[in-house]
Amino acid sequence: EKRRILVCGGGNGAHCLSALAASKDNLDVHVLTLYQDEAERWAKHVENENMKLTITKQDGTQYDIFSKPSLITKDAAKAMSGVEIVFLVVPAFAHAQYFTAIAPHLQPNTLIVGLPGQAGFELQCRHIIGDKASSCTIAASESLPFACRIVEFGRHARILGLKDSLGMSALKGKACQLSFPVVETVQGILGEYPKLELLKNYIAINLMADANVHPPMMYGRWGNWDGKPLKEEPLFYQGVDDRQADLLSRVSEELLATAKAIEQKRKDVDMSEVIHLFDWYKIHYPDQITDKSSLKMAMRTNKAYDGLVHPMVKTDEGYVPNFNYRYTSEDVPFGMVVMKGIADLAGVPTPAMDEILAWGQQKLGKEYIVGSKLIGKDIGLARAPQSFGMTSVDELFDI
Ligand code: NAI
Repeated sequence: EKRRILVCGGGNGAHCLSALAASKDNLDVHVLTLYQDEAERWAKHVENENMKLTITKQDGTQYDIFSKPSLITKDAAKAMSGVEIVFLVVPAFAHAQYFTAIAPHLQPNTLIVGLPGQAGFELQCRHIIGDKASSCTIAASESLPFACRIVEFGRHARILGLKDSLGMSALKGKACQLSFPVVETVQGILGEYPKLELLKNYIAINLMADANVHPPMMYGRWGNWDGKPLKEEPLFYQGVDDRQADLLSRVSEELLATAKAIEQKRKDVDMSEVIHLFDWYKIHYPDQITDKSSLKMAMRTNKAYDGLVHPMVKTDEGYVPNFNYRYTSEDVPFGMVVMKGIADLAGVPTPAMDEILAWGQQKLGKEYIVGSKLIGKDIGLARAPQSFGMTSVDELFDI
């Protein structure tokens, strides 16, 4: 018998995951996409033919698979019928509308997976699905399993590269009894790569999200910018200077202090996956970094970052920074604001994060933080525990 899964979204990742999963004999794939007329257009394309998915394997060789979802719709009730696993494969700003759409149709013992989750995924999901959270499991991966692009909407997509390994957390509601194991089942849907690793707890992943890097890098570089356009796009990681490295380090220390404070409050919680950014680089890029003498030098000499530049907009006068790029637009409300909120619950002061957030929110025209408190008028648009009325560390874990 086939297991039915639902893929939410209509972008690059949603195309690839739905075609990949539909090619497996033991799966039946539904797609829910709420954005504009995506569902209608996509469904029309596959009415009489399969989708094509071109996959580049680890060894560089390519192959095509041909398959299609059995249903592509905008109707959440139809989409959710008989579904055991729901994947959300959209940018974080679009998660809320999917949680809201699936909530009335969620059956007990459903697995909800954020692919990727991004900080605050579980908190927002729990808030929106309410009491149903205790009978579900909410999992989240650290990133999308593949680098991918749509070639032709609804028809052809391409997986450009698969990651080697990918961390995933799973938050099980106290009344949830899944009839299948989380990691092995998601692995079976993705295939051999990336190898999924079950992380110890979701709060650790939230604190270790990429957002602990991007906003400090942006503020460090552009916080004192004189407003003059640049002739060239500056290097992002490889251009890191002392000011940025110092900010990154201070943020890391605040996150480590938060992890320690949580472990002290909750003896049952293991926060050992929260590590300093410098250590993280040494572990993740052992062979690509040529100078491991400091955080700054490790970033400047990491070959994996060759050619990566700051998000810039080209104008007639030259390049200016793009403050609406995801390094701020996503990594502030669905990143650093969440980390700051968890630190607050743990009772840890965060002067570095406060300074970065004060700058970042101003660039976004939002107000999340006032001084050192998450009481800004737009806090409800972010995903901190405080966005959902949480006031204690215990509430993070008692689901
Ligand atoms: P995408 O940019 O292709 O997503 C676009 C889709 O999101 C649209 O097709 C639509 O379904 C939905 N959407 C867009 N605007 C919307 C709106 N205003 N309201 C509601 N829905 C809207 O995203 P992609 O590339 O699939 O990535 C998903 C996530 O994975 C993102 O967080 C991205 O940062 C991350 N990621 C993507 C990688 C890639 O290679 N594509 C690699 C690593 C991470």
